[in-house]
Amino acid sequence: MKFIPTIIAILSLLGATNAQRSFIGNPQDGATVTGGRRTVVQVVRPDSLQGSTEVGIVIGLQSCPITNPFPCAPPNEQVGTILYKGKYKPKLHEQPGRPYQNFTVTIPDADYFVGRAQLSVVRFHLIGAGPSPVLELNNITLNVV
Ligand SMILES: *[C@@H]1O[C@H](CO)[C@@H](O)[C@H](O)[C@H]1NC(C)=O
Ligand SMILES: *[C@@H]1O[C@H](CO)[C@@H](O)[C@H](O)[C@H]1NC(C)=O
Repeated sequence: MKFIPTIIAILSLLGATNAQRSFIGNPQDGATVTGGRRTVVQVVRPDSLQGSTEVGIVIGLQSCPITNPFPCAPPNEQVGTILYKGKYKPKLHEQPGRPYQNFTVTIPDADYFVGRAQLSVVRFHLIGAGPSPVLELNNITLNVV
C-alpha cells in the first residue's frame, strides 16, 4: 500500500505549485498611477492545505518607456527601484480563502519615471517538509503619469 502516501505527496505537491501561487491583486495590469503619490500594492496568497513559510518579498518598479527599443528586463534579472523589501504576512480580510497584505508604496517621481513601467513582486518562501525554497515572480505593467 505504498501508493497512497505517494498520491498524497503528489496532491500536496500540486497544491503547493497551484494553490500557493501568489498574485498581485492591486493595482490591475495596465493601471495608471501617479508619480510621487502613494499607491497600494496588494499581494494575495490563496489558502492551501499545505502551509508555506514566508521569508520575505521585494516590490520593485522598473521604468521602461514605450520609446525604449527594448522591453522591460524580466523580473528575474531586474526589479528596478525597490519600493518595498521585507516581511510578507498575508492575513484574511473581506473574502474567505483569500488572505492578502496591502503595501502602501510611493511611486517614484514622474520627472524621472514616466510612461510604461513594470511592477514586480518577488516572493521567497519555503514549502513542504524539506522544506524546499521557492522564488516566485509576479509582474504587471503600469503607466506612470
Ligand atoms: C512580465 O514580465 C515579462 C518579462 O519581462 C514580460 O514578458 C511580461 O509581458 C510581463 N507581464 C506583464 C503582465 O507585464
Ligand atoms: C487593501 O487595499 C485594497 C485596494 O486599495 C482595499 O480595497 C482594501 O480595503 C485594503 N484592505 C485593507 C485591509 O486595508
